[in-house]
Amino acid sequence: METFQIFPSWLLTTTLVFFMFSMFLYTLRSKRSSMAATKLPPSPPKLPIIGNLHKLLGKPRHQALWHLSKQYGPIMQFHIGSKPFLIISSPIMAKQILKTQDHIFCSRPLSKGTKRLTYNYMDIAFSPQSDHRREMRKILMSEFLGPKRGRLFNQLVTEVETMVRALVLHPPNVAVNLNTLFLALVKGVVCKVAFGNNYRRQPINGPSWEVLVDEALEMLGGSIGDFFPWVGRFIDQFSGWSTKLETCFTNLDAYIETVIDDHKNQIIEEVSDDDKDFVHTLLEMSSKDDAYGCRLTKEDIKALIMDVLTGGVDTTVVTLVWAMSEITRNVRVMQKLQTEIRNQIGTKQKVAVTDITKMTYLKMVVKETLRIHSPAPLLIPHECMSRCQIGGYDVFPGTGVLINAWGMGRDPSVWGDNAAEFYPERFEKFEVDFEMVPFGGGRRSCPAMNTAPTTVEFVIASLVYWFDWEVPDGVKNEDLNMEEDGSLVLRKKVPLCLVPNKYN
Ligand code: HEM
Repeated sequence: METFQIFPSWLLTTTLVFFMFSMFLYTLRSKRSSMAATKLPPSPPKLPIIGNLHKLLGKPRHQALWHLSKQYGPIMQFHIGSKPFLIISSPIMAKQILKTQDHIFCSRPLSKGTKRLTYNYMDIAFSPQSDHRREMRKILMSEFLGPKRGRLFNQLVTEVETMVRALVLHPPNVAVNLNTLFLALVKGVVCKVAFGNNYRRQPINGPSWEVLVDEALEMLGGSIGDFFPWVGRFIDQFSGWSTKLETCFTNLDAYIETVIDDHKNQIIEEVSDDDKDFVHTLLEMSSKDDAYGCRLTKEDIKALIMDVLTGGVDTTVVTLVWAMSEITRNVRVMQKLQTEIRNQIGTKQKVAVTDITKMTYLKMVVKETLRIHSPAPLLIPHECMSRCQIGGYDVFPGTGVLINAWGMGRDPSVWGDNAAEFYPERFEKFEVDFEMVPFGGGRRSCPAMNTAPTTVEFVIASLVYWFDWEVPDGVKNEDLNMEEDGSLVLRKKVPLCLVPNKYN
């Protein structure tokens, strides 16, 4: 009653309405001013629900995005369904993401495929940034690729010798499928060093190695459902993608189980250091605590094996195939390379891994291959972890990042008018910074970025030293088919078949 006397009801109501209206105006203004303060990168016009997805139709993703970057610039916002992506297409912007602000962009987007195939993000390559991932990367570096890489190279020498012997005995004038040859070679090296067995014979009943890895790469590339939060699950269910993922996981898991079981029958303490492979080391690590009281779980081991299987073999094989294709297509390059290698080796009759350190042209040839045929054309997607600015534009957490390594490697504004030409000599004068990024960069760079080029150089040196190579069926060298196929890893669409003629 007293209150009513001091504040009559009409005054109370008017004050309340006025207060609410002021609040509304204030919220609207602050929202507008924060919108005005936000500067998003240029973006093609979006359609409801699908965003810019339609812009990817009819062309491989890396080519469609490269084409769009000509119109919208080196940093472009692109929506796939509801998910925003930053598309990076220049060395300056790539350096921002992979070096200057690497600490913000070193995560990976979540997806159903990667979650399942990495045992719930226990791996290195596809998991978001975490302490666990960092530890796993350290293990791969210290026990497989870093100081112990000598084992990889010893095995490489053995496998290359076997391959050369087989090629010498190959019937004259009959073409060899180099895709099959390189796959057997690289798989042999990686499996022997990682698993102690080159698994030439499939260890499980089920799909072949090629099918297994192909399917896994397809699933790791993501599904349409990933980009549509509410209906995504149904899209994946109805399109059969979810079933395909489960089958792929079951097959891959059975393969990895077999690899681990093969080791369980051995008493690891009794295996000599020379005979110990990567899985032995991982199993040892799972049987005792590390300095922080942690130990590897079976899922950790399986996820690491999955990374080696999917990351280590295909990328190296496609690089070898592209390198041999370009060398064969460019007779001038082939002759210059053969002269360098044959002069270097002389009458020694054997290429050693140490010889290739002196083969400067060979190194330029492999670099040129990686420039023009970046094996992972858009790298593996990165993700922004906190709000920041790139090139003067605002970027928000949760934005995916695709770096167009394929396009950057062919950009005439960087590489000159002969950007499309295979011309290894360009590296005589060109110091590479972020102009080409075939191995990515920063915290998520490929841990094999030093070992993988040596592998490719050694195999190419041996093939070019021992043989002269001819294109079969009267096809001219320069007319070799160079069509591309694939999205996460870019393959040569038509297998490379060449005739080896032994050089005396
Ligand atoms: C020519 C051969 C290879 C190429 C071109 C290549 C390329 C790449 C690329 C582009 C990335 C992603 C980088 C990024 O997102 O910034 C990557 C990551 C990775 N690669 Fe390779 N790779 C090769 C060989 C290998 C080998 C032999 C292994 C292991 C045995 C390997 C294991 C990995 C792993 C584990 C990652 C994930 C790194 C992380 O996210 O921290 N790669 N590789």
